[in-house]
Amino acid sequence: MVSTVPEFVSPDVMEVLLSKEQIAERVQAVGEQISAEYKGQSIVLIGVLKGAAIFLADLARAIKVDNTFDFVAVSSYGRARVSSGAVKLIKDIDNPIEGRHVILVEDILDTGLTLSYLRGLMLQHKPASLKIATCLDKPSRRLVPIEADYACFKIPNAFVIGYGMDYAERYRGVPDIRLYPDNPPAGH
Ligand code: IMP
Ligand code: MG
Repeated sequence: MVSTVPEFVSPDVMEVLLSKEQIAERVQAVGEQISAEYKGQSIVLIGVLKGAAIFLADLARAIKVDNTFDFVAVSSYGRARVSSGAVKLIKDIDNPIEGRHVILVEDILDTGLTLSYLRGLMLQHKPASLKIATCLDKPSRRLVPIEADYACFKIPNAFVIGYGMDYAERYRGVPDIRLYPDNPPAGH
């Protein structure tokens, strides 16, 4: 993989796509929907590191049913330029999920390669149910058929940063979601 460190662009000059107020409102609504649908049950939220960490933290606080967290991490190769679609698990779940109600929590559902790989992997553990929650959904980018059960926002094909999402590992702490100016950036 070619890796040249891009220059830092201040997020202040980037256009806000979704404000922190808009995000908070939708995350709350999705949390309420999940709380209603899983009423009386226990769920395991499995976040995909690192991008989903902030969304999971907010979503969990909006979910009123019994829940625990776990995390997985994946690395993908050539998703952008080569589109080989190869995804590799670099951190597995810590606790068994057999017979549990699982929600995979992701920052963005883009080509769908990451989540279809993870869904397949998690299904091998025989959970009682498996759903997908994503903060953002870019349906126009899909390469494999997969849909989120819960999506806070559907967005057009644009590269965004903030609210956990990065460009070259930067900007994850930006509290709103902004359009990266060189869009799409090289390598995406
Ligand atoms: P995919 O669905 O397998 O293509 O990959 C989804 C992953 O690509 C997400 O978890 C993000 O890490 C990354 N990604 C896709 N679009 C964006 C974006 O606009 N900004 C930041 N990361 C993105
Ligand atoms: Mg990610």
